[in-house]
Amino acid sequence: MIIIEPIDALRAQIKAWRKAGETIAFVPTMGNLHSGHLALVKRAQELGSKVVVSIFVNPTQFDRKEDLAAYPRTLEDDCAQLQAIGTDMVFTPTPAIMYPAGGLATRVEVPGISQLLEGASRPGHFTGVSTVVCKLFNLVQPDVAVFGEKDFQQLMLIRQMVRELDMDINIVGLPTVREADGLAMSSRNGYLTAEERKIAPEFNRILRVVVDALHKGRQDYASLQEAAMKSLELQGFRPDYVEIRRVIDLQPPKGGDGALVVLGSAWLGKARLIDNIPVQD
Ligand code: PAJ
Repeated sequence: MIIIEPIDALRAQIKAWRKAGETIAFVPTMGNLHSGHLALVKRAQELGSKVVVSIFVNPTQFDRKEDLAAYPRTLEDDCAQLQAIGTDMVFTPTPAIMYPAGGLATRVEVPGISQLLEGASRPGHFTGVSTVVCKLFNLVQPDVAVFGEKDFQQLMLIRQMVRELDMDINIVGLPTVREADGLAMSSRNGYLTAEERKIAPEFNRILRVVVDALHKGRQDYASLQEAAMKSLELQGFRPDYVEIRRVIDLQPPKGGDGALVVLGSAWLGKARLIDNIPVQD
């Protein structure tokens, strides 16, 4: 496995692979890898002949409420895990490499999708995401890139950016990988105390109650959302939102229109958890 930090070395390796007729599958991450990330890498191995994983804790997508300095950095362990499953290259740029002048004047923005839900709770977050992913795409020049449905809105944002800017990259989404008790795997689960970790699976269970009600034909979306928020509060969460939205554009459903997804975000202690469940028709 090749570990590369500088941009010129990355470009040289990508060029050599391209010349040799390799196809490149890419998995961008912020590190502190868990089985969810590794599932993306394994899928990438089926999609390309060379797999590149980036590990970069991107400062521009953190807002004031989440501490950039506190985000877990476990580069050595991450590389060991990636090596064990046969990753070809890990790109580990520093902030100075990605943002030589301390930041970028150029931004990639996808207004609309980036202002809803997570975007409303975390202003500027998605501009940081779309800009850094665009930059990473330009550096790695992948044929295919793999993202998790765990960050449902992020996946939609990337798809829209790629579509509208004619990036020749196939975006593949993968279902959320969960702990045995239903908690979505996340680097942020490490912020939970032992006591909070026991409560955390209630988040997914409460979202599933909403999904079950939708399966039974309920269309009183507002009261379902409100009940879920109350349940979360009773369990000790500080919910940001629980929303039933259309898969196609994340707008509120008007009744009987297409596939739905239940999305939620809630604080538990120092951790801000997000989860979602697509509603199968
Ligand atoms: P990060 O949170 O490290 O996630 C990297 C990728 O792993 C994302 O596509 C995310 O959706 C996916 N992922 C995380 N938890 C998962 C789980 N439990 N099951 C399946 N996939 C999961 O998302 C980011 O980093 C950043 O915003 C990034 C795209 C790298 C841009 O900085």
